Amino acid sequence: MQARMVANTASRKMPVRYGVLRSWAHLVLVPFRELQFLASTMRDVSSVPPQSVKLRIIRSLLKLHQPGISFVGTGTCLGDTTAMVRRLGHRVISIELDPAQYARAQHRFRDDPDVVLVHGDCVTALQQVLPRLTRPAVLWLDAHHSGGITAGGPSDDPILACLAELRDQTVRSHSLLIDDVATFDGQRSRPDLVQVMLAIRAINSEYRIRIQGDIIVATVNRTTSSNNGWKIHSSVRETRP
Ligand SMILES: C[S@@+](CC[C@H](N)C(=O)[O-])C[C@H]1O[C@@H](n2cnc3c(N)ncnc32)[C@H](O)[C@@H]1O
Repeated sequence: MQARMVANTASRKMPVRYGVLRSWAHLVLVPFRELQFLASTMRDVSSVPPQSVKLRIIRSLLKLHQPGISFVGTGTCLGDTTAMVRRLGHRVISIELDPAQYARAQHRFRDDPDVVLVHGDCVTALQQVLPRLTRPAVLWLDAHHSGGITAGGPSDDPILACLAELRDQTVRSHSLLIDDVATFDGQRSRPDLVQVMLAIRAINSEYRIRIQGDIIVATVNRTTSSNNGWKIHSSVRETRP
């Protein structure tokens, strides 16, 4: 499928009930889920952090990068991550397969020229988007079928195909954030965690990989070298013995 890249010119109205649902979620559901997560953490029970906690993790990682770095997301969904990243001032390119979610995101970001929304399968879309990234960016890889309103592409989880696209690029030092570690169990069409780790290393053997709250974080240390004058102060604060 040919991915379609469109700046925000949507004219469809977002249903009022969507706004109401979002307010309700922020006031009730989000604090409730965070409390649940906190409680399970305190009981030493492993559990997947809710989306609001993941957003905080992404935000804290982004703050370690230089301002103005591009952020590419696969799986726009409701656009909450896009909105958070825009509040931090980064330019966003976000890819979504499901036409309804894509249309909703178009409406949500219709007045923001620094959000580029792409409609299509993330693997195909990345083939178009990645060559345009002339400097390292932050990639949030989160496109997969997850039931409900979400779409499913040729595979339930296209993460390995997305990572394979990165191998062929000139820039192979993007910071990678890959969501839903807990689902990398090798079942159905999902990869297992080792396959994902190996696919990251195949892009660039200098990637340092860690897992933070259900998110794989892979970064290349770039403190000492610059890339067209671009530097990150990211994982760089890690100290070596
Ligand atoms: C878990 S949600 C993404 C959540 C979102 N990234 C966020 O941070 O709020 C997964 C999204 O990926 C989309 N999706 C599924 N398969 C896809 C594919 N092959 N290409 C692009 N998007 C896909 C689904 O429709 C869904 O909206």
